[in-house]
Amino acid sequence: MSNYHIKHLEEYYQVYRKSIREPENFWEEIAEEHFVWRKKWNSVLEWDFKIPEVKWFSGAKLNITENCIDRHLATRGDKTAILFEPNDPKEAAEHISYTELSKRVNQFANVLKDKGIQKGDRVCIYVPMIPELAIATLACARIGAIHSVVFAGFSAVALATRINDSDCKMVITSDGSYRGAKIIDLKGIVDEALEHCPGVSTVLVAKRIHSEIYMKEGRDQWLQPLLDTASNVCEAEIMDAEDPLFILYTSGSTGTPKGMVHTTAGYMVYTAYTFKNAFQYKENDVYWCTADIGWITGHSYIVYGPLANGATTLLFEGVPSYPDFGRFWEIVEKHKVSQFYTAPTAIRALAKHGTEVVDAYDLSSLKVLGSVGEPINEEAWHWYNDNIGKKKSPIIDTWWQTETGGMMITPIPYVTPTKPTYATLPFIGIQPAIVDEKGNELSGNQVEGRLCIKFPWPSIARTIWGNHQRYKETYFSAYKNMYFTGDGALRDEVGYYRITGRVDDVIIVSGHNLGTAPIEDAINEHPAVAESAIVGFPHDIKGSALYGYITLKDIGESRSQDNLRKEINQLITDRIGPIAKLDKIQFSEGLPKTRSGKIMRRILRKIACNEMDNLGDVSTLLNPEVVQSIIDNRL
Ligand code: WTA
Repeated sequence: MSNYHIKHLEEYYQVYRKSIREPENFWEEIAEEHFVWRKKWNSVLEWDFKIPEVKWFSGAKLNITENCIDRHLATRGDKTAILFEPNDPKEAAEHISYTELSKRVNQFANVLKDKGIQKGDRVCIYVPMIPELAIATLACARIGAIHSVVFAGFSAVALATRINDSDCKMVITSDGSYRGAKIIDLKGIVDEALEHCPGVSTVLVAKRIHSEIYMKEGRDQWLQPLLDTASNVCEAEIMDAEDPLFILYTSGSTGTPKGMVHTTAGYMVYTAYTFKNAFQYKENDVYWCTADIGWITGHSYIVYGPLANGATTLLFEGVPSYPDFGRFWEIVEKHKVSQFYTAPTAIRALAKHGTEVVDAYDLSSLKVLGSVGEPINEEAWHWYNDNIGKKKSPIIDTWWQTETGGMMITPIPYVTPTKPTYATLPFIGIQPAIVDEKGNELSGNQVEGRLCIKFPWPSIARTIWGNHQRYKETYFSAYKNMYFTGDGALRDEVGYYRITGRVDDVIIVSGHNLGTAPIEDAINEHPAVAESAIVGFPHDIKGSALYGYITLKDIGESRSQDNLRKEINQLITDRIGPIAKLDKIQFSEGLPKTRSGKIMRRILRKIACNEMDNLGDVSTLLNPEVVQSIIDNRL
């Protein structure tokens, strides 16, 4: 019998040790007993971090949708698979049973096939949080098409970059979307993006807001009439274990986003196993993750992980503040949510509005609270624990990444004693290492350094789409034979891990990863801008916010700085999206540089964070005099 469900701490240690000593036997047992395969594997694991190459369950054949849907039909056909809660609380929630989900996924899959989509083709999904988003991803998986979901808050330029990078043939979208009191013209954004995407021949449009929109002849088609006439039977495409399941873009330290490629079998096994244990999911629980499916959290823990366990997964279209700040808790009460998984930024925003809106609702159904996306500060942790969990529901602070596919360091609730701000212990099968800057592994406890992983786990991303070299350089070159996470971490006296934040040029704003380079590129497009540097600084709600230092060209006319600030933020909104707007923009005469001309972001970061007393030695800079003037004009 495999250890699919861990129930107490000794069992965790025992299973953990087994997963490290005999990883192949361990994962083979899990895979064999808890999933359906068309053919078993020839080998469990082949890997070499030097190439780098990782293959799990090589030679196995399967389809992930047979694991997420078909196999539940006999025993859970009437059970709610997806519970849709609309933006407007007055609109009725929709309960989509496993039987219904099966039909809708198959119909959608037949529509895709009918439009010429074949195994291996890339399909871009730019859809708000409505059932069609989950159904479209599963429909792609059903026929072996590779989905690339782009968060529906990205701009037309960001969307076009992602569509072109992976040569998507088709875009799935909706006529618009609701976000709180706002209506967003999603299709308009798609139209704008597609002016730069010659490879897209078909756009399927779901109806959500029922507005009049432009439909391009020969390219755009309403989805519903096609679904209505499609058969609800669609044979699953038989996939290899290592066939790509999806591409999901994440920010990098340099220009273009990285299309992380996740493959089928390992991703399925790991997301399902982590879901079961990290949420202690039981058959009649209602599970809710508030993330958007446009991010990895939504892929792994709204769609694949929960459905592979036959769970009920809640999909919420709206925002925590609409119609008021009690919305999350109203939903918890209404649907008797058992597990609630959100981001620290949401917790901080809600905490600001006091406990009255919380106390109005019955939250007694909650058993597990989760946090993801950024470090959770102590204050937010306690607010969450006291007011939402009533000190009874353990908080799992789950550390992981788009690249890792699933949770890597997390408490197991009711198993691992929690500690505020600590992600605690590695999950089963995960071998973290803390290394110093030279790459020496720091053994023992009470050490701090950079976080690496020494051994492959089943859901590690296999490559960056179209750029294996960049994959190698980003993750496997800094430290020999290890995957480098880009995060700093410490291990305390009992071996618990605490993530201390990014050590590269990625800044996490409201739980969203933002690379500084693409933002600087956008700013530098402004005709008045000579140069710019972006750093992060602490923010009450967003965790970190962006501080931009900008030098202007001598453009011979004086413009109002406020107008310039607005224009710069508009450029960022157009190129990336509103999430990347700068909170503070300081114009300065110069930026501190090394003698080789590199901008010293470290100094700028300290100034933005108001840590002027430990700037270090600035005398070796090319232009030490600018530092004082930047400090004097600090915002
Ligand atoms: C950060 C999200 C501290 C971290 C699943 C990581 C966290 C990046 C935590 C990945 C956490 C995520 N504590 N930091 N519990 N979870 N992070 O790719 O810096 O959107 O590298 O994946 O978020 O963000 P991504």
